[in-house]
Amino acid sequence: MEKVKVSAPGKLMLFGEHAVVYGFPCIVAAVDQRMQVVAETLARPEIVIDAPDVGIIGYTKKVDLLKNSDNLPKGVQFLETAVKNFFEKYQVKTGLKIKTTSKFSSQFGFGSSSAVTVSVLKALSLLLEIKLSKKELFKIAYRTVLDVQGVGSGFDLAAALWGGVIYYVLGGKRIAPLEVKNLPLVVGYSGVKADTPSLVYQVNQLYRDNRQVIKSVFKSIDILTRQAKKALIKKDFSKIGQLMDINQGLLDALGVNTLKLSRLIFAARKGGALGAKISGAGGGDCMIALVGRESEPIVKSAIRKAGGKVIEVKISAEGVRVE
Ligand code: PMV
Repeated sequence: MEKVKVSAPGKLMLFGEHAVVYGFPCIVAAVDQRMQVVAETLARPEIVIDAPDVGIIGYTKKVDLLKNSDNLPKGVQFLETAVKNFFEKYQVKTGLKIKTTSKFSSQFGFGSSSAVTVSVLKALSLLLEIKLSKKELFKIAYRTVLDVQGVGSGFDLAAALWGGVIYYVLGGKRIAPLEVKNLPLVVGYSGVKADTPSLVYQVNQLYRDNRQVIKSVFKSIDILTRQAKKALIKKDFSKIGQLMDINQGLLDALGVNTLKLSRLIFAARKGGALGAKISGAGGGDCMIALVGRESEPIVKSAIRKAGGKVIEVKISAEGVRVE
């Protein structure tokens, strides 16, 4: 094959963020906002990257220099490291031209880096005809995330690979798809870009300063995530909403809430949402609210009035696929 086009979905964290980094489960949903990667082989031994959404045009690196991966420009970090890890593992040295296109802004925190990582690895396996299972792709993708940002549970990679709604445990120890099709969520973007690794470090500092207390916060998140799994399968919306609110309280206890996110969350609740919480690391990015048919327009307008941007998404999107 000389050219392939692959796409992978972004994600929203429904339950269990932060606690998942400490080995507790989380629940993640793939969303229908996708990253697309077009990859083709080049005759000359170079990697050429175009990622116009993040300001990268015509970035070029000799294949032999891939091992020098310090101080990469931010826009190519995940992509180049993924290529390097793939090439090292499968002993290949092919010239490549890669172009990424995003259907969503990398500002939202929908996991554009993980979707790009997964897409490019899938594209390479097709281009170079190296048959890899999702688990094998997950392994190289997770290695890539740890190489680039040092921390992370890998939940977003699971969403990009498997799609749907997933009950997930650190490092892919458990990746269990849940039968959840229609979960009416409203997503509100806070307008602030969150830096996930620094929030993970911040929570770790709090944990080290208050080990017993924070451990019990994680334990509570663990319990509610397990209950949420059951409630999601049963479509018990009022229970799901309650658990979202409790999860939010515990995220506040972890110190990752912000005034802006809080405003959107309380606005959504006041507008009739069954529950509302941060999705992801906190500090910015998005909040999610579970709504009923009547409350949906009211919640949307309440979020807008409170200064948020409503983003239309559907959950349970398909995982990585050839376009
Ligand atoms: O900020 P996001 O959407 O990438 O979510 C981060 C979730 C954490 O649990 C805080 C980190 C992780 O990798 O699981």
